[in-house]
Amino acid sequence: SRNACIGPALVTWFLGHQRPLPWRRHYDPYAVWISEIMLQQTQMSKVVPYFERWMKRFPNVQAVAEAPLDALLQAWEGLGYYRRVHHLKAAAQQIMAQHGGKLPFDEASLRRLPGIGPYTAAAVASLAFGRPVVVLDGNAQRVSARLLDWPAPVKEARSLKVLRQALEHWMPSGHAREFNQAVMELGALICTPRNPRCVQCPVCAWCRAYAAKTVASRPVMSGR
Ligand code: ADE
Repeated sequence: SRNACIGPALVTWFLGHQRPLPWRRHYDPYAVWISEIMLQQTQMSKVVPYFERWMKRFPNVQAVAEAPLDALLQAWEGLGYYRRVHHLKAAAQQIMAQHGGKLPFDEASLRRLPGIGPYTAAAVASLAFGRPVVVLDGNAQRVSARLLDWPAPVKEARSLKVLRQALEHWMPSGHAREFNQAVMELGALICTPRNPRCVQCPVCAWCRAYAAKTVASRPVMSGR
C-alpha cells in the first residue's frame, strides 16, 4: 500500500534536511539525555548554547554526580524549571551507583531515573540506543493526527493509542533513531501548529488531512 512508503520517506527527508544539532554528532547517550531534559520546557534555539556550555563543564555522568548542586544550578541559570537540575544530579548519582556510570538502554530502567518520564525514556532508548520504540511527543501527535486526519481529541487515551500504533506501523525496522527524529523535525520545521508548509512536506502525498483540506483543524485539541 502507499502507506508503506511513509516511514522511508520520512527517514530519507530527515537525513537530508535535519538541523546540525550538537547531540546529533555522536548520539552519546549522556548527551542525548541532557538535550532531552533541556528541550522538555525550553525551545531549541535557547537550548543549543546552554547544551554546548554544559557539555564542556560536565562532560559525562560522573561529572554531574560529583558536581556541587550550586555549580549545576549556575550552568542552568536562565533555562528555568530548576527542579530539572535536582533530578539530573539525583539521576546521575543513581546511574553511577546502579549502572556503572552508563545510561541504561532499556525503557524500564530509564523510567526509574528521577526526571525521566515515558517521553524521555522513549527518546533516549531510541535516539541513543536504537531501540524500536515510538516517541509520542506533541510534535509526533500533531504529525500523526494530520497524516491520519484523526477526528477525535488527540489527548484522549484512545487517540493516543491509535496514533502510537500508526507510528509503530510506519517506523522502518532498524531506523528508530532517524524515524523518531524525522517526525519531531517535521513537526518543528514543516508540520507546524499554525501555517504548516505542506508544499515542502516529504509525506504530503500520504497525508489524509491534506487531501481532505482539514490540516488547519488537526489535531483536534479538546472534546468541547
Ligand atoms: N525535541 C525534543 N527532542 C528533539 C530532538 N531530538 N530533535 C528535534 N526536536 C526535539
